[in-house]
Amino acid sequence: MTRDRRRHGGSEHRPPPSRKPPPAPGREWGRVLLVAILSCVIGLGAFGYGSYMKWRQSVRVVTLHPAPPILTPNSSSPEASPDLFWGSYRPQVYLGMKTRSPRSVVTGLMWLSQSGSPSLRHTCEQGDGLSRYGWLMHDGVNFGIQEINDKGFTLRTEFVKRPGGHHGGDWSWRIVGTPNDPSSPAQLVSIFFYVATDGQGSLTPHVDGSGRLSSVTGTSEELGRFTIHIPRAQGGASGHISYNHLVTVCPGLHHITDVVRSSMRDRFSHPAADTGPKRRYFGLDIHHPPSHPGSDHSHIIIHQVTLYLPAQVEILFESDSFAQRPGPLSGVAFSTELEKHKKTMEDRFRERFRLEEKGFIAEQVSFAQAALSNMLGGMGYFYGSSLVRSRYNPEPASYPPAPLYTAVPSRSFFPRGFLWDEGFHLLLIARWSPPLAWQSLAHWLDLMNADGWIPREQILGPEARSKVPAEFVVQWDENANPPTLFLALRQLLADREVSSEGLQLLRRAYPRLQTWYSWFNNTQNGLLPYTYRWRGRDRDTLRFLNPKTLTSGLDDYPRASHPSDDERHVDLRCWMTLASEVMATISDLLGEDGARYKEYHMALADNSLLDKLHWSERLGAYADYGNHTQNVALEWEHFRPVPGQDPRSVPPPRLIRVVRKSPKLQFVGALGYVSLFPFLLQVLSPDSPKLGRLMDHVRDADRLWTPYGIRSLSKSSPMFMQRNTEHDPPYWRGPIWININYLLVSALHRYSQLDGPYRERALGLYRELRTNLISNLYRQYIKSGFLWEQYNDQTGHGQGSHPFTGWSSLIVLVMAEEY
Ligand SMILES: *[C@@H]1O[C@H](CO)[C@@H](O)[C@H](O)[C@H]1NC(C)=O
Ligand SMILES: *[C@@H]1O[C@H](CO)[C@@H](O)[C@H](O)[C@H]1NC(C)=O
Ligand SMILES: *[C@@H]1O[C@H](CO)[C@@H](O)[C@H](O)[C@H]1NC(C)=O
Repeated sequence: MTRDRRRHGGSEHRPPPSRKPPPAPGREWGRVLLVAILSCVIGLGAFGYGSYMKWRQSVRVVTLHPAPPILTPNSSSPEASPDLFWGSYRPQVYLGMKTRSPRSVVTGLMWLSQSGSPSLRHTCEQGDGLSRYGWLMHDGVNFGIQEINDKGFTLRTEFVKRPGGHHGGDWSWRIVGTPNDPSSPAQLVSIFFYVATDGQGSLTPHVDGSGRLSSVTGTSEELGRFTIHIPRAQGGASGHISYNHLVTVCPGLHHITDVVRSSMRDRFSHPAADTGPKRRYFGLDIHHPPSHPGSDHSHIIIHQVTLYLPAQVEILFESDSFAQRPGPLSGVAFSTELEKHKKTMEDRFRERFRLEEKGFIAEQVSFAQAALSNMLGGMGYFYGSSLVRSRYNPEPASYPPAPLYTAVPSRSFFPRGFLWDEGFHLLLIARWSPPLAWQSLAHWLDLMNADGWIPREQILGPEARSKVPAEFVVQWDENANPPTLFLALRQLLADREVSSEGLQLLRRAYPRLQTWYSWFNNTQNGLLPYTYRWRGRDRDTLRFLNPKTLTSGLDDYPRASHPSDDERHVDLRCWMTLASEVMATISDLLGEDGARYKEYHMALADNSLLDKLHWSERLGAYADYGNHTQNVALEWEHFRPVPGQDPRSVPPPRLIRVVRKSPKLQFVGALGYVSLFPFLLQVLSPDSPKLGRLMDHVRDADRLWTPYGIRSLSKSSPMFMQRNTEHDPPYWRGPIWININYLLVSALHRYSQLDGPYRERALGLYRELRTNLISNLYRQYIKSGFLWEQYNDQTGHGQGSHPFTGWSSLIVLVMAEEY
């Protein structure tokens, strides 16, 4: 948990009340009786007004933006959007499907190896230690093929959907279990399928003559009536096949694993011919549901089949509204349908990204296909309320419940929406399917409140909340996160003719985008004109080597040592430059008046003003400015007992920051990602001499260059690979991150196409960096089975959370040279 504290923002400070408090009751006119009476009347009125204002302010944080939502009320319904109704929208489990509805019926897979020490698999957990899992193919809409390598065997999970009827159609699953080493003794494995309601709907089990659960019928608000068929499993060498099932109730979806775990008992299976020895296994038995499971409880039906591998299990979901079904979607029909979609995806992938033409071998193309598939297969549909606070809300308040259709950074560690990650995700998603990207974009913007704030980490619903420690759940309404959705918008608008659907959404989005822009411009501004400052830095200067700036997305990247209002942050200024430009483009496109965005963009993009505010000659790069000293260190503080004190009550030593030289207002000497931002976001004009200077740093192996990509902080920086506290290992202080490397490759590509003195140089760097990134990510994927959160700058090894198929999947665009 400690390493992956990114984005949690637990230590976000509580901001001091700097805004003027609401007017207080008048007090000073108290001498003459008449005046006193008058004052009483006025005072009471003012008091009423004051509390009214306070109340208004406190509900404002949880008041949604007044513009009509971009997504019309039923836009995700099976009538309006049948193709996207069902999906693998539960990225937090190894396999699970649900519908895009607030309280969807959910389905899921679990398995349990009965050989060795049994361990139940359900939600994606790094602790499970699987050597590889993820989607090999997934087109985001119709089908998916996943491979999961557990100890000694592999599960292949396939699903395919079939349109028809009025409720999102049918789908089927096929789970194929294969031993990794056919010559080793056969393994006994249990495969579980469950279906559960989430506060509405009903389920009825149907059991055949042998006591085996053969189907489930049910109803729900948006699914109408449906039937789930559970055919007999195939395979199961040596005859042992046992079926168990459980029908029960639990207080919510996040309890399903516990229900299964707690209802397992020793069971015995008999070989088919009743000849061989009995075999002991863990099987579903009795579960005692809580006596008061709550109104939002789940009905669950769990099916378990226990058998020897190799084996195969199918599950068929059929909508009762499907009038002329050509036959069950199983066996050969399933394979045919799956092959059809697979072929379509392969063709489209080839046509879309043209990797073969760029000389990639088949294995590398499969790698890229898997990276895209995991991004798409990682898209989830969440529903619920964030917990938020503002200076007017000392207690966390519930945000209005809302849906979010979004990709996630990591299925195991961050299976939820993150605002700044999503802008990067959409760069790839939009290249595959603009409609999917618009959908996500619209969902995110619809989460905006009246002030123009969007909570940056979306922990919606009890299932999502169960994965996040309580102290990290609450979001502060003064904290930003890079407005990367503008990156996605820039690309969507530049790519080709914007579809009429996209244009429609954009028109509805416009008032929100305006407010979003203003929120950044008004709340994250610096003291000087045309400067910006991230709010929400750690205020505690004793505990951290450098107080973190979680809101910038770059957590522990070194900033001014002593946070103050004098700070200005160059990365945020560049994000605002981009935002101004995109707002100007959008205004033009929609025929709105975008003059102020254009003007502001001109001012922010003015390289000489940028240099004046942020170029540090000493560093030879762009820099933040603030109250800063380089001379800080973490040291152990030992406590001595005072005379007469019980030595056992002396606190243990602690690591604290010591400041050896007083801070003063100056540029922050930290060379790394932040210093490159005017380059990364292409704010620099192609003939700026600064471009050459930054290229020098980029290509310098003692600074930023590695054979695996660009490191986040220069090797020569005093904070390079320094821990921030005893418990915080370096995060953005050296390791290689793919989102920023993507920005750099795309900037180099662009500068290599523009006339200017650095054109050739940009081209050379572009080629080298691109090759390094692709070779390393591919090599690590083959070796470790995953894409990773970050890569080690010394060895290239993947590290941090995994699989991390959020922005690390941007490698597909680097391979395709699509920027
Ligand atoms: C949305 O669907 C619900 C239920 O099907 C229906 O009652 C409602 O009128 C619909 N709303 C709109 C705006 O179409
Ligand atoms: C951004 O804020 C500044 C300072 O308040 C203001 O002058 C400017 O007009 C704003 N920019 C836009 C595009 O609204
Ligand atoms: C810089 O920080 C130090 C230590 O907190 C403080 O004493 C000093 O006043 C600050 N200087 C400025 C210019 O804010």
